[in-house]
Amino acid sequence: MSDALSSRAAARPCRVVLLGGQGLLGGAFRRAWAEHPGFALREFTRAELNLTRPEQIEQALERVEFDVLVNAAAYTQVDDAEVQPDLALAVNARAPTILAGLCAARGARLVHFSTDYVFDGHQSRPYRESDAAAPLSAYGRSKWEGEQGVAAASPEHLILRLAWLFGPGRDAFPEWVLRQAVSHGEVRVVSDKTGSPTFSVDVPGWVEALLAPGRAAAEGPWPGLFHLVNGPACSWLEYAQGVLDAAAALGWPLRCRHPSPVALASLPGLTAERPRQSALDTSRFTQCTGLRPRPWREAMAEHLSRQGRAGA
Ligand SMILES: NC(=O)c1ccc[n+]([C@@H]2O[C@H](COP(=O)([O-])OP(=O)(O)OC[C@H]3O[C@@H](n4cnc5c(N)ncnc54)[C@H](OP(=O)(O)O)[C@@H]3O)[C@@H](O)[C@H]2O)c1
Repeated sequence: MSDALSSRAAARPCRVVLLGGQGLLGGAFRRAWAEHPGFALREFTRAELNLTRPEQIEQALERVEFDVLVNAAAYTQVDDAEVQPDLALAVNARAPTILAGLCAARGARLVHFSTDYVFDGHQSRPYRESDAAAPLSAYGRSKWEGEQGVAAASPEHLILRLAWLFGPGRDAFPEWVLRQAVSHGEVRVVSDKTGSPTFSVDVPGWVEALLAPGRAAAEGPWPGLFHLVNGPACSWLEYAQGVLDAAAALGWPLRCRHPSPVALASLPGLTAERPRQSALDTSRFTQCTGLRPRPWREAMAEHLSRQGRAGA
């Protein structure tokens, strides 16, 4: 715990409302902060607070006192959003805008999450917060609209762009790679798409650092916007190789140790267009907090070792 936060903890824990606690990211916050002496966590499930119902948002929140609202809830089905753009907009844009207004009116801070899919992928280096968003998909557009709604309500709110999330609680890319490698002799993975894996377990600590009392929103035209990922950038193929290397070191019974490259264009079933290069630059977070996210390969080793050998 940071010094600043521990001194607040001595006075009163920070009262946090968590939305989306059953999801991959939200579960990481629930596990990290439920027993944390610096936080008093109050979770709302989708049944208690459905983001598609504005009146329910207001009714649920007016009954609780809180300092911070962590919105880890979102419509995250990238391909389905192409056929359900209104639902994606309701959950990812309209609801966060309402949440941001409610938080600003009550002097609370909203911690909202966004995505690398707000970018079009034409940038050759990792994206900075100052780079222009140009989403290619309905999902990306809904998240970008949500960012703008939150930013308009208050520069004190945090908008944190993540990418390629993995972690306990919900299967993601590493689990798919491992299933393929254990049961098949071949793992075919896209080699012409680059990004930044992010370990969900690391995110609450990064957010804690950004929320530390006395640490105001950063300077500049994007005060509350930060890119938060584990480095360095990699292709999906390199990501899969990192998963297999970590699993091999733990003695997993792999039938395939090296993935085979395929082109993104050859993948069936992808309705939404995805950026080919959407790695995120975390320098701004490091400048603001002094923290440097650890390499994703180190995080992957921890993730797999938590599961035990062969996920047992
Ligand atoms: N996953 C990634 O690779 C990735 C990459 C970049 C950014 N992000 C961002 O990170 C954040 C968290 O993503 P995630 O992968 O953890 O999501 P997730 O696992 O799909 O979880 C989403 C959560 O949102 C809740 N939710 C969905 N619709 C809702 C509604 N109408 N009302 C209330 N709650 C609702 C879900 O509730 P139920 O449990 O009831 O379904 C679930 O708890 C999102 O902002 C996402 O855009 C994710």
